[in-house]
Parts: sequence; C-alpha cells; structure tokens
Amino acid sequence: MTQKAHSTTPVEDATKGVPVGRIVSVTGSQAIALVFHNSNGSEESKALQPEMGTLLKVDTPISVVLCLVSALSAPAPTEVDSEQELWIAEIELVGELFKNEQGVPDKFRRGVMAYPALGDLIYKCSHEELKKAYSWDNEETIRIGKIHQDQSIDAVIRVNEMLGKHFAVLGSTGTGKSCSTALLLRQILDKNPEGHVVLIDPHNEYTKCFGNMAEVISVNELQLPFWFLTFEEIVEVLVGDRKGRSKEVEILADLIPMAKARYANGKRGGRLAMRTSDNANFSVDAPLPYRISDINDLLNEHMGRLDMKNSIGPYKVLKARIEAVTSDVRYSFMFGSTTVQDQMAAILGRLFRIPVNGRPITIIEMTGLPSEVINVVVSVIARMAFDFALWSGGKVPITIVCEEAHRYIPADSKMGFEPTKRSLAKIAKEGRKYGVSLGVISQRPSEIDSTILSQCNTLFVMRMANDLDQTIVLSAISDAASSLLEFLPSLGMGECIVFGDGVTLPVRMRFDRLDDKYLPRSSTAKFTESWRETIDDDEDFLENVVKRWRAAGTPTANTTGDAKIAEAVLMPSDAAAKDPLMSPAAQDNPAPQKHASIPTMAAPQSSETEAPVLDAPDFEEEASDAEMIKGSIESAMEEKERIREALRSKSRFFK
Ligand SMILES: Nc1ncnc2c1ncn2[C@@H]1O[C@H](COP(=O)(O)OP(=O)(O)OP(=O)(O)O)[C@@H](O)[C@H]1O
Ligand SMILES: [Mg+2]
Repeated sequence: MTQKAHSTTPVEDATKGVPVGRIVSVTGSQAIALVFHNSNGSEESKALQPEMGTLLKVDTPISVVLCLVSALSAPAPTEVDSEQELWIAEIELVGELFKNEQGVPDKFRRGVMAYPALGDLIYKCSHEELKKAYSWDNEETIRIGKIHQDQSIDAVIRVNEMLGKHFAVLGSTGTGKSCSTALLLRQILDKNPEGHVVLIDPHNEYTKCFGNMAEVISVNELQLPFWFLTFEEIVEVLVGDRKGRSKEVEILADLIPMAKARYANGKRGGRLAMRTSDNANFSVDAPLPYRISDINDLLNEHMGRLDMKNSIGPYKVLKARIEAVTSDVRYSFMFGSTTVQDQMAAILGRLFRIPVNGRPITIIEMTGLPSEVINVVVSVIARMAFDFALWSGGKVPITIVCEEAHRYIPADSKMGFEPTKRSLAKIAKEGRKYGVSLGVISQRPSEIDSTILSQCNTLFVMRMANDLDQTIVLSAISDAASSLLEFLPSLGMGECIVFGDGVTLPVRMRFDRLDDKYLPRSSTAKFTESWRETIDDDEDFLENVVKRWRAAGTPTANTTGDAKIAEAVLMPSDAAAKDPLMSPAAQDNPAPQKHASIPTMAAPQSSETEAPVLDAPDFEEEASDAEMIKGSIESAMEEKERIREALRSKSRFFK
C-alpha cells in the first residue's frame, strides 16, 4: 500500500457525506484511523478535516458508533509535500446511535456494543446525529449553552444525574465559574421552582443572580444556635484547636449533658439535674437546647468544689473562653439570642426552604466571618442537611453548593476543620441515597479534599493552566474521553468541558451569556476606569468603610492566637509561671495587650454594634460570678506581669 493511496480523495456517500478516514486498528474502546487528505485549501474542504474533540461516526450493521478524536499526529512528517504524509487520528469509542427498523440511526446510548471493523470508513456526524447525541430535551434536562462542534446545537444537562451524583465547577480565577454556577442554578430552578438549594457564598456575590428567587441570609440574620452544634463543633468554637486542651474538652463533655438536662427539667418544672445518671438521656451530640448560663453555673459549681490551683486552671480558661466567644459579635448568630428556645423546625424550614414560598434557593452570605466561623457554619449546615434528609426519609431533596470549596474542605489534613470535611464527605459518599447533593466550586482543585472531589460525578472544567490542578482533575475523571483535558489551557471565557453522567457525552461547550442584571458581584475591577475618576465626591467614604469594617468584626483576627493570649494570661500552671517563654503562647504573643476578662476575640465595638445579650441573667448568680471573675482577673494580672517581666529579662539577655 503506497502512501499516495491514503490521500486519494474518497468518494462521497449520499447519506453519510465525505469519509474523513479509515479504521486501521481497534483496541477496547479505542481505535486508530488513517486520516484522508480531504482539504484542497477551500474553507468547505478544511471543515472536513477532523480536529481534536470532533465527534466522528462509523457505520455498523446495528448502529452508528460515535467516536471522539483524542489525538492527531503525522508520525513521519515530510518537509516538501504534506500529501505524502501519513496522518493518524486516535479516537475513543464513546457511544452509539441504534438504528430503528428502517435502518435510521435513532436512540443514543453511552458505550459501545458493536465495534467497527478494520477498513471501515469514518465520517463526521451530521447535525441531526449531533443533536441526537448531545441535545436531549425532556423535563429532566436544562439547556445551558451551545456545543463547540456545532454552535447551533444546545448543550443540555441532565439535572437528576448532575445533582444526584454531585457536581463540581472548576477553573482558574476569572474564567466564569460563578457566572456558570448562577446560570446552571437559575436554569434548574426556573424549571423546578419548588427546589431546595443552599448556596454558601463566602464573597457575598450571588444575591444579584437570583433576584426574588433567593432567600438571602446575611451574617447579621444568620441564626444557628450553639446547641445545634455537635460536641466536636462546640469544642472547636469554645476551646479551639490548641495543644493541651484535653482537660477543657473533658469538662465540656461532662457539663453539656448536665446543661441539657437542666434545660429539659426546667421546662418540665422539675428539679435541676446534677447527677450523671440524670443526664444519661442527653447525649453531647443531640441537637437539644441548653443555656450557656447553665454551663457557666455548672463551671462555678465545680470550681467551688475544687481548691487545688492546678485543677482549677482549665475551668478558669474555659470560663474565659466562653465569655470571650459569647460576647464576640462575629459569633452572635450562635450566642446572640436573648432566650433559648427550641426553634429547630423554624430554622430548618428557613434554611432548606420548606415550604419554598417562591424562594427555592437560600444564599448564606459569609463575607466578614473568620475562616474558623465559616468552617463551623458549613459543618453545621451540611450535617443538618444530611440528618434532615435521613430523618425525613429523603422526601425533600436538598442541594448544598459550596463556593470557594478549597477554603473549607482543604486537601491538607492539617488545615481546615475535620467535622466540616466529614459532614461534606458524608454527603458526597452517602447523600445520593437520601437525596442530599453537593456542588463544589473551586479555582484550586488540587487543594480540595480528594475524597470529596472524586465523588463529584459531573465536572464542568473551565480554563485551567496549572499542571497540578489538571492532574487532579484528570484523576477525578473516569471517562474515556479524558484526553479532552488537553484543551483546558486554551479554553475561552465561559467555555468548558463537561464530563460525567450529567451529559450524554463528554462535550466542549460554551455557557450562554448571563444577563447583565444577574451577573455575580465579582466582576473584575475596572482599574483604568476607576483610576481616571476622583473619589472625593463622597467625603465620608473612608469613615463609612471603617464603620462597616468595625461593625463586622475583624475578619483577619486569629482567634487561636487570641485564645493563646488568654491562655498564657490565665494559665495558672507552675510550668508557665516558672518559664513563660517556654510556652508557645508567650512566644507567639510576646506582649499580651488585652485584659483576660475582656473578650479577647471581640471586634472593636462601634455604637451600632451591640454586644449580644446572653440567656436571661440571674442576679444572685451574677454576684458570685463577679467574685469569680474578679479572682480570675487578679490571678491573670499577676500572671501577665510575670510574663512581661520574663520577656523583658529575655530581651535584655539577647541585647
Ligand atoms: N456566562 C457568562 N455570562 C456573562 N458574563 C460572563 C459569563 N462567564 C464569565 N463572564 C464574565 O467573566 C467575569 C468573571 O466571571 P466569574 O466571576 O464567574 O469568574 P470566576 O471563575 O468565578 O472567578 P473567581 O475564581 O475569581 O471567583 C464576569 O464578571 C463576567 O463579566
Ligand atoms: Mg467566582
């Protein structure tokens, strides 16, 4: 066989068109074809040459086998006449259109049953065949854009498959993830107005996208009472992630069931529970109401019974931490309520839109919350969604969409918050069975917990240049057509490749334009425009920025660091007193600035920002509390002085 023979212009078939090549090898779901030199330079003939990602077809007796071009090469290139070269296309056999009784290709099916034979001619798919393969239209699908191969064909997503088996929208910053997510969710909710979506929005960018469809819950309105938290979550909030916290954790494990029993007994008009046996029915994890004031009372009662300086230490630390956290404005959504009421059903109803009341999506705006608070909020919401689905028998399918997911489900096991990862991983692994699904949006797939990402079946992958991110996406794709990922660095804005069960076949597509009025608030800053205008028309501009900043707390404050200060200042242990410089707290925070009894994490309080009121106060108890606090302050001050002195002598030594 001469090379010239391959380049002979093939004969056009009346129904299939001009062949573009011939099968020369078939292995499993892959094949190799010799490509004909169809181009004579005209635009029409150029369109006949297959490109990467083009969908081709091979005719078999029972079906038309559909194949995607995954690689093109000229193994022995010549300098003179390209007509002399062998051109090779590697193709993936991805699906079939089964022929009906009249022999016309009709029903599409993924995978292949009939394999092409050696020598079979391959053709480009016709418009009708592409439509049958990509563009299914029924009540379970939505249209989101156009496919790359034929701009007149809609890109269609199968909603049940996309949501049921979780989805991810991945791509570098500014490639259109938020716009695409808004478009996807809008399309889904337009068609399914009784939906239940919770969107975690760390940059407050989505409110505009959904107009009246959204129930927006801002930081100020968010209500997640502390007693919703599991033991692990409340420990993260009240004790933090510090070394040597085991005693405080132990104390909390004892006191929380007691406080729950006190609340329940109080409600029933019974006597206050103190014995462990009374608390046997109140597990630390059950979402049963209790009062922080009861925890404080119990701490005081226990401290009253202890007299050794060392054993009282953890109680004092815990008391100071509780005081700090409960008066921190950024935690007011947990501790801010004046009364403790069992409003669990109402909170679940608002959060998960039951009933929907015309707003099928809840947007949780979280700008201004420190990452540890975001972690806890996401953990609680994800856990509640799963438990709700479990206890409601999966009657109300819920989708949780996590924007900037790498922030709270990081791959690094030392980062993030374990319960958040666990709650989301549980949805990713078991949610399908109960109707809870997950949407993961991220610009750094390599930084997301791989267990969770690998469970996302439908992937919308936008432009991505980073090699590591591409490798991670590749490993998350089980599809035979993963070679399409080669396109990732060259995709345009709003363009993506979709893999998984949400699409009939892996497809390169472009999202429709989202109407300007629905664009997320994330649009890229117009530097040149802004830098040509003066900002002095608003005299109070800076003042207002500072006011808002203060009212929201100090997002960059490191609560763990603050906690360490409190710890160093309050720690009565001999070790710390002997050589406070040996304690990491003293090293990290050489000059404690705040008084221990002043809430260490509280943001600077502006006149607009009132400190949250705790549970109804009991004045007699308050008096003994005051004594206790006074004692703590005095010992804290002494301790602080000792640390300062030690630091001074150490700095003199280094001079
Ligand atoms: N489908 C679309 N319709 C209209 N505009 C779009 C679309 N996709 C992208 N854009 C434009 O691209 C800009 C960036 O998009 P977007 O904010 O969605 O990117 P992103 O990937 O979410 O970025 P980041 O990772 O920083 O959050 C938008 O402000 C918008 O102007
Ligand atoms: Mg975005």
